[in-house]
Amino acid sequence: MTDVMILAAGLGTRMKSNRAKVLHQLGGRPLISYPVRAALELDPRNLLVITGHQAAEVEAAVRDEFDAFDGNGQTNLTFVRQTEQRGTGHAVLSARGALTGTKGPLVIIAGDSPMLKSATFSKLVESHQTEGAAATFLTAMLEDPTGYGRIVRDREGRFVRNVEQKDATEAERKIQEVNVSVYCFDTPALLGALGSLTTDNAQGEYYLTDVPQVLSSASNKVTALLHNDPEEVMGINSRLDLAEAERKLREHKLQDLMLAGVTLIDPATTYIDQEVEIGRDTVLHPQVIIEGKSSIGAGCTIQSWTRLKDVHIGDNVTIKNCSVVEDSDIADRAAIGPFARIRMQAEIGESVVIGNFVEVKKSKIGRKTKAQHLAYLGDATLGENVNIGAGTITCNYDGERKHQTIIEDDVKIGSDTMLVAPVSVGRGSKTGAGSVITKNVPPDSLAVGVPAVIKKKLR
Ligand code: UD1
Ligand code: CA
Repeated sequence: MTDVMILAAGLGTRMKSNRAKVLHQLGGRPLISYPVRAALELDPRNLLVITGHQAAEVEAAVRDEFDAFDGNGQTNLTFVRQTEQRGTGHAVLSARGALTGTKGPLVIIAGDSPMLKSATFSKLVESHQTEGAAATFLTAMLEDPTGYGRIVRDREGRFVRNVEQKDATEAERKIQEVNVSVYCFDTPALLGALGSLTTDNAQGEYYLTDVPQVLSSASNKVTALLHNDPEEVMGINSRLDLAEAERKLREHKLQDLMLAGVTLIDPATTYIDQEVEIGRDTVLHPQVIIEGKSSIGAGCTIQSWTRLKDVHIGDNVTIKNCSVVEDSDIADRAAIGPFARIRMQAEIGESVVIGNFVEVKKSKIGRKTKAQHLAYLGDATLGENVNIGAGTITCNYDGERKHQTIIEDDVKIGSDTMLVAPVSVGRGSKTGAGSVITKNVPPDSLAVGVPAVIKKKLR
């Protein structure tokens, strides 16, 4: 069985960031989650992750992905801290203790390669084993190889050595075949060779890239395997690379959605995170953004300039222009917006209408209830068939604490009603326009008027 090691201890200097590179977001997920998922899909016996910079945060991100992964649960996750980052070879060396005694093939990848597929690791391991190699690693032909380590081969095309960009001669820099930091090693052979690494190079680091040459000059079989999908092996070093990867992942996601029956009127301006699910015959207008772990049902229409994040939306829902919905659920056939804001675990029931300039926060709205214009519904529970007049406000905050408003079925709240929470309006009741409701209204009653009186001195 295979073991996998992910190198993720570096800061990522070229990101010019205070945040470790592998924690930067890509498609709504941290960068490190991509190689972790690809590694887990290989079903390894051990997954070793080398951390250093912001180790606790990186380890938490790895663990999140590990816990969310729906595998057979056989993989052991181990973190190894590389306290000082002295190169990729040094990173592997710091895990020597965790590797002694392991005999099988060890796949090593960099934590900054989000597009790698586990099928590629399988092919790598397969070739490694059939060839009986000590080291097998992937290379790619890049139109612009700048920044990558280059592969030096002899006249017969046999691998000679890796040379890093910073150590390469003018002629070597013209080589377009690059090292992509995806390796498979015979573990004992790797451990033996690591001892021979030196820091005698332009960066003064222990390079993992020197190991293949160390092994081949001791007459071990080493294979540099050309992988013909350059997009898959791209590494993220700068924010330019990050944006490039974002664009590619987004393109694939949009293609998958369209092939699965979702209409995107303008894919060029549609932004959808990797984890988002959308049902068939849903139509997304231009300039829609859907983020996080969101699911949208079938037959929905999402109009332009709308942003949805971590939402669950049922079938046949319409969300009109310029609405923002976060951390909330919307049931079938509801109509939202334009210009609606829904947030903090709001639950919008079936066939509900939330119209323009209505904010719903942490509230539950029952079936067929309507709040068509200019209202604030916060910390409220509304029954079915309620009508909320324009300008209604649940006054949920007394300056210190939040309070609940309860509005039962079939209530009609008149325009500009202030509901001073905690307060409830019983089933079938009505409030008159401009009323300030400070006491509970019993069922089937009419409440009107403004009861403001000076109650006490505040200070
Ligand atoms: C590395 C390769 C280069 C290859 C490129 C492909 C080396 C010396 N060079 O260069 O040949 O073309 O990847 O993307 O390996 N890391 C640690 N500890 C360290 C240093 C790095 O864990 O001490 C981790 C980083 O967090 C990163 C990975 O190793 O995830 C690769 O390091 P990076 O600095 O990005 O290497 P490159 O310069 O891209
Ligand atoms: Ca890199």
